[in-house]
Amino acid sequence: PVLVVDFGAQYAQLIARRVREANVYSEVVPHTMTAPEMLAKEPAAIVLSGGPSSVYADGAPGLDAAILEAGVPVFGMCYGFQAMVQCLGGSVERTGMREYGSTRAQVTDRTSTLFNGQPEEQSVWMSHGDAAVAAPDGTQVTATTPGSPVAAIEDDERRLYGVQWHPEVMHSTFGQRVLENFLHRGAGIAGDWTASNVVDEQVAAIREVVGDDRVLCGLSGGVDSSVAAALVQRAVGDQLTCVFVDHGLLREGEVEQVEEDFVAATGVNLVVVDAKAQFLDALAGVSDPETKRKIIGREFIRTFEQAARDVVGEGAEDGHPVKWLVQGTLYPDVVESGGGSGAANIKSHHNVGGLPDDLQFQLVEPLRALFKDEVRQVGLELGVPESIVWRQPFPGPGLGIRIIGEVTESNLDVLRRADAIARAELSEAGLDREIWQCPVVLLADVRSVGVQGDGRTYGHPVVLRPVSSEDAMTADWTRVPYEVLAQISTRITNEVEEVNRVVLDVTSKPPGTIEWE
Ligand code: XMP
Repeated sequence: PVLVVDFGAQYAQLIARRVREANVYSEVVPHTMTAPEMLAKEPAAIVLSGGPSSVYADGAPGLDAAILEAGVPVFGMCYGFQAMVQCLGGSVERTGMREYGSTRAQVTDRTSTLFNGQPEEQSVWMSHGDAAVAAPDGTQVTATTPGSPVAAIEDDERRLYGVQWHPEVMHSTFGQRVLENFLHRGAGIAGDWTASNVVDEQVAAIREVVGDDRVLCGLSGGVDSSVAAALVQRAVGDQLTCVFVDHGLLREGEVEQVEEDFVAATGVNLVVVDAKAQFLDALAGVSDPETKRKIIGREFIRTFEQAARDVVGEGAEDGHPVKWLVQGTLYPDVVESGGGSGAANIKSHHNVGGLPDDLQFQLVEPLRALFKDEVRQVGLELGVPESIVWRQPFPGPGLGIRIIGEVTESNLDVLRRADAIARAELSEAGLDREIWQCPVVLLADVRSVGVQGDGRTYGHPVVLRPVSSEDAMTADWTRVPYEVLAQISTRITNEVEEVNRVVLDVTSKPPGTIEWE
């Protein structure tokens, strides 16, 4: 792999993604990992990320010279660049001049490895206080900026490169080209890491560890569990059984998407547990959001456990025990939990959260090394329907937390119809990618007066909550064109009798959350 050494800023994961966009596999490692540990991974190259600190700050993360002396190509960015310059015997000084945001870099050698074929002037994004003022011996200075006399260094002999700016951010116009030049030209790495290779590798790895055992997978209808299941199915076919708990809180068409489209496309062996009545019973009379969540979570675990026991029992009878459980864990979770190598798709013995002692599984986590957009590519490669691959986030408790008031069959039916209209119109308007998700919320506890035809109505409002976001931690309300909103409003109030008002939520997060409950 290409190792991206995380010097403690938020950039490392972004860099890892950019490397992968060049079809080169990358992994993030903490700067606390020792040089021998890094080299033991036999990296094809090492990228040193930016970081928050000055190289002069107390406790600034250091760079072990062994990394630069191992013959492995290295590319330093921002802090990583400065640490590299210092380590190689150049000098980094407090110039008192800070460079933040977009700056113009002057390329002084347009035939160099990094800048080959690029314009002499390019916009780059910077964020630093100290500056490199003298390049290390043996390196060539190939770019400058107003505040950094040494803004890029290259040494083709030792294959050491670095830039003072952040090539990984969009504001650096030639950033991706510079990075790709490092990877392909500087380090000589071929770009052959593609979704189809990932499928081949994972299929082989899954076959290897699972052998003849049987595997269980809980399908939610979401992207991650679906793609993980499709991958395992590709590897071990009917040894996999998927369990889908239909809690009756899904949107229109979603159960069919899983039961029909997904099964037709992937051939998975699917057990659907119809638990609609059980969930409705358990939710009767409950309006408090957290109580709803607890009830839905509890019923879900109960239902899944029972289904798992049935599947485990069957496996026991035919002598092929169910030993494995598929989980759709993604790479960002692995990195954030400080978890080890992303390459290992299997974690050994593990007590799966929430399952009782008599149901012990080992985990198969075939998406452990992948970012979300890569999971989607793998899904497409496996033929998972686009409606699932591109599905927007949808909460586990489903429509249960989008009814303000009691979750009843009739409230669910009203919300489902209104939601289907909103989704269809937003898709029709081509807004699916721009909108992160658009909860439609039924205010079942609120009634307002309206007029329709000659008659007075006393119906319920629904709220449209379209948001734009990167990660759901923060969000802004999406500026959906008025005509699209008008069309949604007209159709909902005409077609869903119980609803006589459509309102738009124009609150960002914070202070509002995305969901209303
Ligand atoms: P909030 O409402 O906290 O939502 O801004 C952030 C993201 O999380 C989703 N969400 C949930 N997902 N179980 C889930 O699996 C939940 O109880 C839950 N509540 C919110 C929400 O849809 C959004 O994507």
